Amino acid sequence: MPAPNDRHEIRGSAPAPERELVRHARGFGRALSAWYRTSARPLPWRQAPSLYKTVVSEFMLQQTQVKTVLPYLARWLEELPDFAALAAAPEARVLKLWEGLGYYSRARNLHRLAQAIAALPSAPRDAAAWQELPGVGPYTAAAITSISFSAPAACVDGNVVRILARLTSDATLHRDSASAAKTLAPLAAALLPAANPGGHNQAMMELGATVCLRSNPLCPQCPVREFCSAGLRGNPGDYPRLAPKKMERLSLTRVWCQRRGALLLHLSANGARRFAAMHELPTADQAGSTPGAVERGELLAKKRRGITRYQITESIFRVSSVSKNLSKELVWVPIDELESVTLSGPHRRWIREILLAAPA
Ligand code: ADE
Repeated sequence: MPAPNDRHEIRGSAPAPERELVRHARGFGRALSAWYRTSARPLPWRQAPSLYKTVVSEFMLQQTQVKTVLPYLARWLEELPDFAALAAAPEARVLKLWEGLGYYSRARNLHRLAQAIAALPSAPRDAAAWQELPGVGPYTAAAITSISFSAPAACVDGNVVRILARLTSDATLHRDSASAAKTLAPLAAALLPAANPGGHNQAMMELGATVCLRSNPLCPQCPVREFCSAGLRGNPGDYPRLAPKKMERLSLTRVWCQRRGALLLHLSANGARRFAAMHELPTADQAGSTPGAVERGELLAKKRRGITRYQITESIFRVSSVSKNLSKELVWVPIDELESVTLSGPHRRWIREILLAAPA
């Protein structure tokens, strides 16, 4: 390990590897930033960066991988190039551009955030003020303000948790990644350099995404391996220590009801305005079907997916009719107009599959 420095406070109660790392914060930061300058991927929000691009990309990157985000971001920036354009766009258009990225509350929040920013004389510059805006948590606020305004705010997400836990052979058994992020936030802050905190944060993200991988980390290529306790001990895979997730199983019965070239769909209640809402295949409940009756029909598909801590199995049954008194949230959408309504990603996939397999 290179010569120590005394720039950062060392917490008296911190375990030895953590104290060691903080003592060497300056050397750590230098090695990391030298690597980042030569190895960073040329991502669009890093080239000709702007506050708007940073905000949109950070919203899209919440819970979504870079490679998935890229085409969405390109389309988005072309159609909605700045806060004013986004603020003025109809919600239906915003959701349509987001379609397939999932977690649609992010799109609604981003839209509301643009309206709030557009109404201000200038955008806030510190992380605390950004956290007051819709959809902005500590991570996103730190990313936006450190990258755009050099604010001294450290980003701690799952990737950074993994890096910090390995650097220090963190023995704590964390309840989950969010609780680990809270616990490790002071360490992340102690490593943050006053000069270029945004670059440092992005370098940490990049290291987590390309080198300090969840499984099979590329330790021989790591620019900070000499600072890494778990790397030096040869057991980086043991960190972070997270309590096993308690998954809850859920079963849902959905109905497929087709009539005169139209498909019955349910509109989510939180998109109160009709065309802004997200469409999905209705559950048996939403379609007002008698419990148990739907399952006697033809099973068209059985789909499994994980959403947060739920493991959901959704069975889609064909029904030939539904109650005459449909609730206002149910609509008949002509099959040849399905492309123009907003469907949540998996539902669009399922509908395509079913239509291909059983067209009539
Ligand atoms: N994940 C979240 N924010 C990111 C960023 N700015 N660059 C790369 N990955 C990220």
